[in-house]
Amino acid sequence: MKRLNSQLQKDGAPLELILLIRTLLAGCKEISFRVSQGALAGVLGSTLSENVQGETQKKLDVISNQILKDTLRDSGYVKAISSEEEDTVVPCDPNGNYLVSFDPLDGSSNTEINSLIGTIFSIAHAPQWMEPDDPSAFLQPGTQMVAAGYVLYGPSTMLAMTTGRGTHIYTLDKTHGGFLLTHPNVQVPHGTAEFAINTSNQRHWEMPIQQYVADLLAGEEGPRKKDYNMRWVAAMVGDIHRVLCRGGIFMYPFDKRNPSKPGKLRLLYEANPMAFLMEQAGGLADTGQGRIMEVMPSEIHQRVPVLIGSKEEVETCLSYYRKAG
Ligand code: F6P
Repeated sequence: MKRLNSQLQKDGAPLELILLIRTLLAGCKEISFRVSQGALAGVLGSTLSENVQGETQKKLDVISNQILKDTLRDSGYVKAISSEEEDTVVPCDPNGNYLVSFDPLDGSSNTEINSLIGTIFSIAHAPQWMEPDDPSAFLQPGTQMVAAGYVLYGPSTMLAMTTGRGTHIYTLDKTHGGFLLTHPNVQVPHGTAEFAINTSNQRHWEMPIQQYVADLLAGEEGPRKKDYNMRWVAAMVGDIHRVLCRGGIFMYPFDKRNPSKPGKLRLLYEANPMAFLMEQAGGLADTGQGRIMEVMPSEIHQRVPVLIGSKEEVETCLSYYRKAG
């Protein structure tokens, strides 16, 4: 089976980017090990602190963030980092050529129940002019990403990655510590009968998504004339992995509760990397108002609505937005 290195070379990734990705993944392998130790290492449960977004930090959030920060900061490849668990950017090497954004441990509430969690990341070029502590350099649309991916800590540790030449999935071979290419050139199936949305928020959704989901739930008797299944892992990384592998649509739509938070998921280190992976696998990723990867961020922790998955299903969902004007 092909190794990550040779696939990255085949995809034309520059040497420095390959070295950066390998460094980042060395950190993810350490996270994978820490996560697998669970209660034996006393790493489950919450800290007494909250992150800048008001979320209680799990011990593993803090540990994972520290591992990635330490690994990347000293690598020489990275000028600055933005992380879900950091208030502002973390300055690294002034000569670094890349910016890395990450959610060190997505779905971390699942740690308590030994369910799916993962690390999500995106990489962009660092502008020459930027000072390492300047957050404005991160305010680039997702179209500027040079690589993105996630590492899923499940029964197997898997990596989904793109450098803009297709989406490939690798499995960590823990006997020698390498990621091996197990699913080359993933194509997300176009037709689907599965959707993922947290229906407990239904009363806060806007009309287009209310109508779209109502039609999915109506099944064979409704306008879609087919029965749909609903799945919700409560970790974006787990839901997106399922959609990449067998199709479907994942939604975290606009929510009327708090207009200053137009959605739950963060653009830089959740929505954008997943959008890049999905588009490279032939799927679509939209906010309901336009392509996710074209959203111009106004701050590093910006949130966006997310409609992502199989091309036909996302297009159908978007047709409800168009009808509603
Ligand atoms: O951090 C965001 C996140 O944990 C995602 O990974 C996941 O899709 C979502 O929140 C779960 O949201 P909820 O709490 O509404 O189930």
